[in-house]
Amino acid sequence: MLEPTDLTARATEALLTTFGTEATVVGRAPGRVNLIGEHTDYNAGLVLPVALPHATYAAAAPRTDGVIRIASAQEPEPFTGHVDELGPEIEGWPAYVAGVLWTLREAGLEVDGLDMYLESSVPLGAGLSSSASVECATAVAALGVAGRALDEDLRRSVVAAGIRAEAEVAKAPTGGMDQTVAVFAETGGALLIDFDSGEHRNVPLALGDRTILVTDTRVKHQLTDGGYAARRAQCEKAAADLGLRSLREAALEQVETLADDVVRRRARHIVTEIARVEPTVTALGSGDRAAIGELFAASHASMRDDFEISVPELDLAVSTAVTSGADGARMTGGGFGGSIVSILPADAVEPVTAAIDKAFAEAGHNPPGHLIATPAAGASWASA
Ligand code: GLA
Repeated sequence: MLEPTDLTARATEALLTTFGTEATVVGRAPGRVNLIGEHTDYNAGLVLPVALPHATYAAAAPRTDGVIRIASAQEPEPFTGHVDELGPEIEGWPAYVAGVLWTLREAGLEVDGLDMYLESSVPLGAGLSSSASVECATAVAALGVAGRALDEDLRRSVVAAGIRAEAEVAKAPTGGMDQTVAVFAETGGALLIDFDSGEHRNVPLALGDRTILVTDTRVKHQLTDGGYAARRAQCEKAAADLGLRSLREAALEQVETLADDVVRRRARHIVTEIARVEPTVTALGSGDRAAIGELFAASHASMRDDFEISVPELDLAVSTAVTSGADGARMTGGGFGGSIVSILPADAVEPVTAAIDKAFAEAGHNPPGHLIATPAAGASWASA
């Protein structure tokens, strides 16, 4: 089980040993697991993610010469640059750190020279938004260095800066769910986000004896390798063919008239998936386990058959979780690898994880990783 270690001390110590700098602040931003509403964010739809207790920690201190130095425990090479030379051409992992300092500055926020060191307990490439947690931890640490309290407006600016860095610098055309939950999540709740109205609301999760389990298939997932962008383009084509602003406005009967089989199935996933989000909120609120099981099963089948973003390891993990004691399970995140999410009785965690481990070993897959997603709070910074 991957534990959500507090890495504040490790990040501040590493800042000192790497750059000889005493941290003045530490920023923190969580990874996320989405309960339902997949690929719906860039279709003006609904999503229901939860912030993980696993997070990125960014220890930072100001500099007076405009120089920016950023190192990470997860990356071999530090980034070095100057605040006046930041731009969209930053490549590799610095796109997520220096890139977000650039987009904050573009938004008119005062970001100056700084030293920063990042440590993260969010597994990389697991579809749990390690990149959004890095962007948001970097942004709140930089704002912390400038002494800015994170009010509602500033939080919205952090979300926007993260999305823009990911789209324009890292070149991943993602939808905004990950940054929104990384910033606005509240302890104990899921975040219901409506990408049409731009509103979000905390949904307290009275899980009782239920637990949220995340299983990383260890099939590496990438948002920059074409599959994600292709799905987005197909959804945009479906909306355009129907003469609609987005698939949020589409009815299932309309979608079934689309001539192209692939485009029709992609759109069917979006329309049915958006329709599953509010019933999931209701089922979670009333503890209706049968309904959760049905909604998760329908969501997974839709991603596997209509949206075609599942892989055999995800399908095996989902079916094994359900047959060994979970109320419901589905793949979560962008797809093409990554993780599944299950809701299950706390005392079923041991048998379910053991059953998945065994099924993976028998199928010749790499051993999966597991973590418990106790719903955590969004990004913050604190004085070091
Ligand atoms: C990735 C993207 C999100 C969202 C999900 C799929 O995590 O970053 O914007 O589209 O995939 O729901």
